[in-house]
Amino acid sequence: MSSVAVVPGSFDPVTLGHLDVISRAAGLFDEVHVLVVHNPAKTALLPISQRVRLIEQAILDEGLPGNIVVNSWSVGLLVDYCTDVGARALVKGIRSQVDVAYETPMAIVNRNLAGVETVFLLPDPAHAHVSSSLVRQVSALGGDVSPYVPTVVADFLNTQ
Ligand code: PNS
Repeated sequence: MSSVAVVPGSFDPVTLGHLDVISRAAGLFDEVHVLVVHNPAKTALLPISQRVRLIEQAILDEGLPGNIVVNSWSVGLLVDYCTDVGARALVKGIRSQVDVAYETPMAIVNRNLAGVETVFLLPDPAHAHVSSSLVRQVSALGGDVSPYVPTVVADFLNTQ
């Protein structure tokens, strides 16, 4: 039986920290679904379809393994998608205790809902300070985001 994991998130936009976690997940599971999910608690910068395209291009550019697929999900629970694709695990990146506090309740609820476990992975500490919200802010104010995001994302944001 092959192991399938889902790496969910807003990815608005995808960062080097996200790619690091996706790459690590791809080394642990047979199949990894990167799932772009609308988070109503956040004000979106990019349409979901654009986020998907940027992740797909970044995965190609960075030479990540071929066992990664990118999808989006807007209807129903995240665990419904997991059930649909046979994933028994969610993967989340943990940068600090703040992330642990944010992720733990969701992990418990997702386990209670459908028995889907959450695996926390530590990204390279070089990415510990990187977040999409910081990238959105720096980009909106005309700053250079290229140290924090894949080249395709930096180029895209520069044209906005
Ligand atoms: O990158 P983000 O914004 O921190 O990702 C949060 C996300 C999208 C993973 C979270 O909002 C989520 O899981 N949404 C799906 C809705 C859902 O299933 N909620 C109930 C269980 S927590």
